[in-house]
Amino acid sequence: MDGGGKKNIWIIANWKSNKNIAEALEWIETVGPQIHKRENLKVVVCPTFVCLEEVKKAILVGGFPIIVGSQDLSPYDDGAYTGEETARILRDLVDLSILGHFERRKNFGETNDMVADKVNQARQYNIEPLVCVQDDGTPVPSGVKLVAYEPIFAIGTGNPDTPANAEEVAQTIINKCGEEVEVLYGGSVTSENAGAFLKQVNISGLLIGRASLEADEFIKIVEIAEKIS
Ligand code: PGA
Repeated sequence: MDGGGKKNIWIIANWKSNKNIAEALEWIETVGPQIHKRENLKVVVCPTFVCLEEVKKAILVGGFPIIVGSQDLSPYDDGAYTGEETARILRDLVDLSILGHFERRKNFGETNDMVADKVNQARQYNIEPLVCVQDDGTPVPSGVKLVAYEPIFAIGTGNPDTPANAEEVAQTIINKCGEEVEVLYGGSVTSENAGAFLKQVNISGLLIGRASLEADEFIKIVEIAEKIS
């Protein structure tokens, strides 16, 4: 929550392995001018690593109120780790990083220990870690302020959780991790259901996959958030 007592609303686009540089820039040019600056509304885009620099530049040049994030980062510091992008290298380009997404756990063998190491790296280099949990039993490393509740059955399926259940899980996570933690919901979010999730007292935003790829659909979700923020 910010000083005024109003909750923050995070609207985070997780593009996953989609969009090349030209497609990414087209999205920024369409979405950027439509977003109004609001103290408690945080709009974030998380492109692939290769698009980060161009996306960041386009946002700076356009003066758009959009934060840039990565979808992952290395559990290690700089060194002999072929293929990894470290927090120290990424910090010039990103302010946030999605960590422990279910697709990384499932497809790339990411463990809770690796997620904890990634969180440490992120914090060491001033990148805000957004830790994804699949239910209220997934461990959240200490010091994490942003958590996304993403139930497995809802990711990319068109079958979202109910806002009431997501609210209950969010409350449990806050009870467990502390009042300062902000919980987002993710999993088949669309412009149809975004408002119902955002109206929940303990839900402070949305992590959006498929519906974030289409600029018009994403803008609709941001407009819903603007009304609530
Ligand atoms: P989805 O993905 O919106 O396509 O379900 C959400 C996520 O995996 O972050």
